[in-house]
Amino acid sequence: EKVVLAYSGGLDTTAIIPWLKENYDYEVICCCVDCGQGEELDGLDERAKLSGATKLYIEDITDEFCDDYIVPCVQADAVYENKYLLGTSMARPGIAKKLVEIARKENAVAICHGATGKGNDQIRFELSIKALAPDIKIIAPWRDDKWKMDSRESEIEYCKAHGIHLPFSTDQSYSRDRNLWHISHEGLELEDPANEPNYDHLLVLGVSPEKAPDEGEYVTMTFEKGVPTAVNGKKMKVSDIIRELNRLGGKHGIGIIDIVENRVVGMKSRGVYETPGGTILMEAHRQLEELVLDRATMDVKKDMGNRMAQIVYEGKWFTPLREAVQAFVESTQEYVTGEVKFKLYKGNIIKAGTTSPYSLYSESLASFTTGDLYDHHDADGFITLFGLPLKVRAMKMQELEKN
Ligand code: ARG
Ligand code: SIN
Repeated sequence: EKVVLAYSGGLDTTAIIPWLKENYDYEVICCCVDCGQGEELDGLDERAKLSGATKLYIEDITDEFCDDYIVPCVQADAVYENKYLLGTSMARPGIAKKLVEIARKENAVAICHGATGKGNDQIRFELSIKALAPDIKIIAPWRDDKWKMDSRESEIEYCKAHGIHLPFSTDQSYSRDRNLWHISHEGLELEDPANEPNYDHLLVLGVSPEKAPDEGEYVTMTFEKGVPTAVNGKKMKVSDIIRELNRLGGKHGIGIIDIVENRVVGMKSRGVYETPGGTILMEAHRQLEELVLDRATMDVKKDMGNRMAQIVYEGKWFTPLREAVQAFVESTQEYVTGEVKFKLYKGNIIKAGTTSPYSLYSESLASFTTGDLYDHHDADGFITLFGLPLKVRAMKMQELEKN
C-alpha cells in the first residue's frame, strides 16, 4: 500500500519517510507542491529517494494558486484580524488538492503531512483532504503516538539510525512558510510579544522602511473586472504581476506586519509576515472599488470579505459557503476596471491617482455648483425624515425629565 507525503525536503518531512515505512509499512510517494516559494528544488529528488521514498513528484501550481485562490481573496478583500493577508492559509487548499490528485493517480490509501498538532495548517490540510477525498486516510506524525522525536537533534539521530546521512543543521531558525504571496516568520524572539523583531535577521523578501531608498517610486496597476492585468502598462499574467510588485514592494519596505493572531485551535500566536506585492495589489484593488462600487454593495461586500477571511483562515475552502461568498464577490467585480497609480516610499503606499471608465464619482455633483441633479432644498425634507427617529426620542426624554 502507498502513502503520499507532502514533502519539502526539510528535516521534518525527511525524517517522516523512514518513520512511515517503519510504522505503517507503506511505500512512500513524496510530493513537493511548488506555490512559488522560490526555493532551489534541484537535488530534492535524490534526497527523497536517498531517504527511502520510491518516487518524488514536483508539482508547480503557482499559476493555479494565483488564479484560483489569490485573485478571489484579493477581490473579496479578505484580511484576517485586520492585518493578515492569508498567505499561508490560501495556499493550503491548493496543496491539498494536488496531494489528492497524486494519491488518486498512485492509488494510494493515505496522505501524510508534517504540520504540528498546535497549528492551523493541520486543520487546513485535513479539512481540504476530507472534502475532496473522504475515503483517504490522513496521517499526521506530529500527533501520532508512534512519533517519538521531539527535537531537531532527535530527528537527525533517527535519520542516521536509518542510514540517512544528510547535512542538516541543528541550529533553530524561525519557523517559516513561503510562497509567491508571502513569507511568514514565527518563533525565536518573536515568541515574546514584548520583543521587537530582529528585522535585519528576519526579513527575506525586502528591507525595512529605514533601509528603503530615499527616493519614492511610482507604480501603475491595471484591473479588468477585478482581475489585475498589467503593471506600468505592461500586460502580464497574475503570477508575474505579483513577482514584479514583490520586487518593488520589497525594495520600498512595503507590507511588513507584526501580529498576535488567534489560531483556530484557541491560542494566540505572534508572527511577522512579509507580503510586499500583495499589500500593494490589495490596496490598489480597494482604491478602484472605492470609485466604482455603490455604497450599499460596498457595505455588504465588507462583511463578505470578513467572512471569506474567516473561511480561508479556518481551512474551509472546499465548502458551499466559500463558493457562495465567492460568487457574490465575483458579481460585484463587473465594473472594477481601471488604473490605479501609487507612489511607494519607505513603507508607505501613497495614492497618486485612480481612473475608471465606470467611475461613479461625479465632479459636478460633488462640487458646490448646483445643477439639475441636486437641489440644495431637497436636503431640507431629507434631513427632516432622516432625523425623525432621533428627534422623537429626544422630545420624549425632554418630557420625561419634566415629570
Ligand atoms: N500563522 C499563519 C497562519 O496560520 C502562518 C502559519 C505558517 N505556517 C508554517 N508552517 N510555518 O496562516
Ligand atoms: C505548524 O504547526 O505546522 C505551523 C503553525 C500553524 O500551522 O499555524
